[in-house]
Amino acid sequence: MTDFREPLDPTDRLLRSCRGEPVDRPPVWLMRQAGRYLPEYRRLREGVSFLEMCRNVDRAVEVSLQPIDLVGSEAVILFSDIFVPVLGMGADVRFAPGPTLDDPIHTMAQVDALSVPDPRDTVPFVFEIVEALRAELEGRRIPLLGFAGAPFTLAAYLVEGSGSKDFAKLKAMMFRAPEVLHALLEKLVDLTVEYLAAQIEAGAQAVQLFDTWAGILDEPTYREWVLPVHREIASKLDRGSAPLILYVNNGAHVLGPMLEAGADVISIDWRVDMATAARAAGSGTSVQGNLDPCALAAPREEIFRRVERIARAAGPARGHILNLGHGCLPGTPVEGVRAFTDAARALSD
Ligand code: CP3
Repeated sequence: MTDFREPLDPTDRLLRSCRGEPVDRPPVWLMRQAGRYLPEYRRLREGVSFLEMCRNVDRAVEVSLQPIDLVGSEAVILFSDIFVPVLGMGADVRFAPGPTLDDPIHTMAQVDALSVPDPRDTVPFVFEIVEALRAELEGRRIPLLGFAGAPFTLAAYLVEGSGSKDFAKLKAMMFRAPEVLHALLEKLVDLTVEYLAAQIEAGAQAVQLFDTWAGILDEPTYREWVLPVHREIASKLDRGSAPLILYVNNGAHVLGPMLEAGADVISIDWRVDMATAARAAGSGTSVQGNLDPCALAAPREEIFRRVERIARAAGPARGHILNLGHGCLPGTPVEGVRAFTDAARALSD
């Protein structure tokens, strides 16, 4: 850690950490930091559907900003969902509460029927939210993150029709109709590249790609189906100075290909040994993570101990962003989240 005379501001700290430049201490934010664990979120959500929350610019902006003052988060992530841009493709997705389709995709004709429109036309509210957030945050020097679901995870829900324990239908498609899955992934890559580019244009200063379900594949299958998709997105996305963060859940066995994707930061879950990831990432990639979200139920001192341990283990990486290993759960105690961000600030003492 470098001793800066003045503390860095949160935007510099995050962007420098992503790029592997010296910082005073790790920046901190949490995946799913805006959500049902916050009574203030639940109040705004009362009587409003989740999709309406995502579409309503004022509400989405307010909810996105809540974690700064309520739990001390040092970055804001746009409030939305990975399925919002998919609605513009003509897919019939509902939230119940996760993404659900009455008519899941299993044929080439269904893939052909999906359009790849410009998200600026189909979901303009997303970019209005990004612009409004950036204007709100500029004065406070808090960075704004955009995000997208990675094609494999989006395809997992589109083929399965909902979340699943084993995604057997998706895996069956991989074996029995690989050309259908390839065609679907190709359309989703085009959508994702354009969607992230539009968020960066509108003011997102970094973007995170969420591949929640890619970890269900063994390493060779991941290399065949997932790595090329990540590489294509990383190389096609015109990201200017905005770093790309790649999150894979349950990915201890795919650390190698995660590091080959061309992302600036890899975000790992709590089952991955941080010291191993930090050594593997070396000078080429920064790391993000990786407290078990359930550990936020622990006493404050235990959260502090775990944060110190993670930060120490991340030492060999060129940069570390403190985060959870997955999203905040609805039952998370607010004081646990507050302890987590306080523990990050205590790392500079
Ligand atoms: O991180 C943030 O705070 C930004 C907002 C965000 C949401 N979803 C809001 C949300 C982000 C980045 C996501 C990503 C997302 N959505 C992923 C990838 C990351 C992950 O968590 O694995 C996935 C797989 C989805 C799909 C999805 N959306 C699921 C499985 C669910 C239901 C699960 C749940 O928590 O109920 C959703 C709904 C959803 N997305 C909610 C929120 C706040 C709950 C909506 C509500 O009922 O208020």
